[in-house]
Amino acid sequence: MFNDNRIIPVIIISDEKKAVPLAKAIWDGGLSCMEITLRTKQAADCIKAIRIGFPSMHVYAGTVLTVNQVDEVVGAGAECVVTPGLNQLVVSKCREKKIPVVPGCCTPTEIEQALSLGIDIIKFFPAEAAGGCKMIRALSAPYGNVRFVPTGGIDISNVNNYLTIKSVLACGGSWMAPDEWIKNGQFENVYNSVKETLTLINQN
Ligand code: 3PG
Repeated sequence: MFNDNRIIPVIIISDEKKAVPLAKAIWDGGLSCMEITLRTKQAADCIKAIRIGFPSMHVYAGTVLTVNQVDEVVGAGAECVVTPGLNQLVVSKCREKKIPVVPGCCTPTEIEQALSLGIDIIKFFPAEAAGGCKMIRALSAPYGNVRFVPTGGIDISNVNNYLTIKSVLACGGSWMAPDEWIKNGQFENVYNSVKETLTLINQN
């Protein structure tokens, strides 16, 4: 799932008409996945719009908090569910719907709960506030098989610090497509930011 892209743009979008141009800007910049967060009423419609209008793009649903939202995003065509915390009801629903789930964890206890549910890819959230790279390195010692997808407070200034950690599979964040740019239709900025990020990470 995260093999091609080690970077996941995290999106807040409230205008369905902006969904496809946004996906195109991200794609043209060099990434083939994006996470649409369920922080707006229009999020599921935006996921659907991309699945129909730009089907090559891999669309994940983020900020999924309830079992009803799992139904909603599966219906919209999301390929993966990402959650800020570890909610066993949401995990079970994802299993029932046969959609991969990446739950948020940031403590040893939460990681062990995830492992007991058979999950070894976790979102490390909120990454910077929860101890950043130092915390991931510390957690990687006892949990050698766990792979982390840190998000929260990551941007172009620190993304490489995360990506050099062996247990980090990918990094997510809103820095490549802040909601202001999306609202204003500044897709050129999104394209440039994705390109700039990929150039930076490929230099290292
Ligand atoms: C997420 O849901 O992954 C985060 O809210 C993204 O955090 P950021 O806006 O600090 O990148």
